[in-house]
Amino acid sequence: MIAPRPWLSRIHPYRPGTHSATEDGSLASNESPLGASPEVVRAVAQAASRAHTYPDPLADELRTELAGLHEVSPAQILLGNGSDELIFLLAWAYLAHGGHAVCADPAYRMDEISSQVVNARVTKVPLRDWTHDLDAMADVAADIAYVVNPHNPTGTALPFEALDHFAATSRAGLVVVDEAYVDFADNPAATTAVPLAREGRVAVLRTFSKIHGLAGLRVGYLVADAEIVATLRTIRAPFSVGSLAQAAALAALRDPEHRQAVRQHTIEHRTLLTELITTAGYRVVPSQANFLLVQTPDEQRLVARLAAHGIAVRPGSTLGVPGTVRMSVPTARGLELLQRALA
Ligand SMILES: Cc1ncc(COP(=O)(O)O)c(C=O)c1O
Repeated sequence: MIAPRPWLSRIHPYRPGTHSATEDGSLASNESPLGASPEVVRAVAQAASRAHTYPDPLADELRTELAGLHEVSPAQILLGNGSDELIFLLAWAYLAHGGHAVCADPAYRMDEISSQVVNARVTKVPLRDWTHDLDAMADVAADIAYVVNPHNPTGTALPFEALDHFAATSRAGLVVVDEAYVDFADNPAATTAVPLAREGRVAVLRTFSKIHGLAGLRVGYLVADAEIVATLRTIRAPFSVGSLAQAAALAALRDPEHRQAVRQHTIEHRTLLTELITTAGYRVVPSQANFLLVQTPDEQRLVARLAAHGIAVRPGSTLGVPGTVRMSVPTARGLELLQRALA
């Protein structure tokens, strides 16, 4: 039997969250508690009649709307099969064969895995107070520095000024800011790093999986210098974003009311969830995302207790933070389930 490349044996595979029997109890994967916009369902049904044709390779209509939204040129936007595909493209282009990545410890798992896949060196810089230690990260002469803002799995967010300073001082060739959860931040200082992506040394990742509720359709995008986008275009699979996914993303983008409702729900229920968990005697990391990291001396016991009430959460040990449990901001009904489980 053929042997895989030897460095692949070092990789601890990604362990996805599980779903519970009900959507209200599925709090392991940070999915949207309000689902996708009804417009998305209509758009997908309509696009299904053209399923026999290949999708637009670069998703031009979507790319142009995103460019308008972010006030950049369409040449600075690249769509991907979820932002995870773009993370892999970045690793192939800038880390393969002897490259060096720096990320937080714990990192978003795919930043680490994609670097290991291409046999790059990974320097992990421990968080300080649950937040990226940007000063220590800036000292690492890496090819790519990954900053997840708000961070997964902690939910902490850095202010724009800190990222601006990091971009100016980091020894890394490229700073990648992953903003999968930025729409849920209500700290007015924690705004998008897209303005920095206009200057060339910063690339920003976004996803339709979270606030838009399209996790099952797989659409993410990169905002970066046009040269970076052109490089990634040469190595990507041409049809990685399907036509149903493109139609869904366009419909989601054109429904700002739904987006606002998801944001509002998330911010309100994040507060309620925090109150519930702290009242039950646990400490939590203050979150700006659509999940909460709960500190517990016995994560397996808490996971099992919640599972007995039909609630699936993510054990922190699978995310590099043993002694914690990560739970998504739930629906109102999900919050009641939790209340009963913790009573
Ligand atoms: C920080 C971060 N980046 C990227 C992703 C993946 O997004 P996508 O579904 O677009 O691949 C996630 C998903 O949980 C995430 O937490």
